[in-house]
Amino acid sequence: MSQSSIPKPPFIAENLEITDIDQEGRGVSRYGDVVVFVEKAIPGDVVHARVFKKKSRFMEAALHEVVKPSPLRQQPFCRHFGTCGGCQWQHLQYSGQLQFKAQSVKAALSRIGNLSFPEPKPILSALADTAYRNKLDFSFSARSWLTKEELNQGMQDQPALGFHVRGVFDKVLPIESCHLMPPVVNDIRNAVRDFSVQNGYEYYHLKQHTGWLRNLVIRMSADSGKIMVILSVASEDSEKLGALFGMLQTRFPAISSCIWYLNQKLNDSFQGLEPRVWKDTAPYLTERLGQYQFQISPRAFFQTNTRQAERLYQVVHEAIGESVDVLYDLYCGAGSIGIFVSDKAKKIVGIEYVDEAVKDAADNCRLNGVNHLSFYAGDMKKLLNSELLRKEGRPQVIITDPPRAGMDAPVVAELLKSGAEKIIYVSCNPATQARDLALLDEGYRITMVQPVDMFPHTTHVECVVVLERKA
Ligand SMILES: C[S@@+](CC[C@H](N)C(=O)[O-])C[C@H]1O[C@@H](n2cnc3c(N)ncnc32)[C@H](O)[C@@H]1O
Repeated sequence: MSQSSIPKPPFIAENLEITDIDQEGRGVSRYGDVVVFVEKAIPGDVVHARVFKKKSRFMEAALHEVVKPSPLRQQPFCRHFGTCGGCQWQHLQYSGQLQFKAQSVKAALSRIGNLSFPEPKPILSALADTAYRNKLDFSFSARSWLTKEELNQGMQDQPALGFHVRGVFDKVLPIESCHLMPPVVNDIRNAVRDFSVQNGYEYYHLKQHTGWLRNLVIRMSADSGKIMVILSVASEDSEKLGALFGMLQTRFPAISSCIWYLNQKLNDSFQGLEPRVWKDTAPYLTERLGQYQFQISPRAFFQTNTRQAERLYQVVHEAIGESVDVLYDLYCGAGSIGIFVSDKAKKIVGIEYVDEAVKDAADNCRLNGVNHLSFYAGDMKKLLNSELLRKEGRPQVIITDPPRAGMDAPVVAELLKSGAEKIIYVSCNPATQARDLALLDEGYRITMVQPVDMFPHTTHVECVVVLERKA
């Protein structure tokens, strides 16, 4: 079928054979000579799809009916699957998820980076595919997300505690049970919900800016099982906070730390807010990675899948090879990679944007008795320059672990000038990693590619790429 004979959306495209999957996890098919991306469809499916958008070269569609299921299809195990945007791939068997994640790394390196590279190592699967996270962020909202059926039944706005529905900032999907952390976390969240409703504590209205309870974050140490509960509220009220925290501490002895934020801003971000420790509870949790301990303060950045982070860091540790004199840990967060590989260098220099993370990094060094690491706080493209390299020494090895957007071009240029023998590039976004690797190709060749699955049932994939300086 040609472009011009395709009807105007919405319409149902029948019997689409799904042949591939895109970076966002959507099934890819063809309708005549036009590519169609179908949400929740997977390779091997034959589906009817409701096309809702038509552009010149592609169309977007929602799954209408699975006519013939792919052998990789499975029944999603979460009751919130489909509405909650958290685990997009629960309908795909874990082996299939791994296959497509590994494929996406290879595709990015060859298609975006146009690079030559050795065959990637088999993807490191997660040790557990449920209860693998150590932190979840929930929101309170005066307006719950209502399904079509609930709206048809005339259901009205009601308070909800759960996750934001993708693309809808003021409505929250009430969560009864989430499989991403151990079951006690569901019990805690539901106890907060029941207690607050029974006692008339108002949930925040994200448009009208009224109400009291705003956010609930639950962190749990994979090592000790101890739990930190963090609440953000719109006004100071020790009586209500005391009642809520008191109930939680009595019912859940694993809660060792109760923290609260006063948030009177128009948005929910904790940025610029001071965490306050409730009474005599602990100001942080302690987590372990390998032989090292880490203090997790309320706003500390810490890898959310502890056990898999340990395996990721082991890959980095091994990739360093022989011990070196100077190693740089770029985008170092709270210093966890640098500390984990601290036996591999006489001197380690960490650079990180967030000031508090750098303070945490220094505390974590003291906690572990490692004193050959130093940290700089600030923007990488300003801090990483020849002056710093002169002052701290030229690195033999550079580890870089940037955010999803990848590295800024001036940072890549500094890496090329650094003279480092080896660069270990850890990334959570194969597309930006491939873009940066294409620039680094001027001076470095890829010697190892190791994809790692940190987040089962999502489309995300982590990848470690080792580069060696060209002769
Ligand atoms: C993917 S995290 C890595 C954290 C750490 N390596 C770890 O494994 O825990 C990326 C880090 O880069 C930091 N970051 C983002 N943009 C930055 C910039 N322009 N300059 C320096 N650090 C930055 C973030 O604050 C974050 O801590």
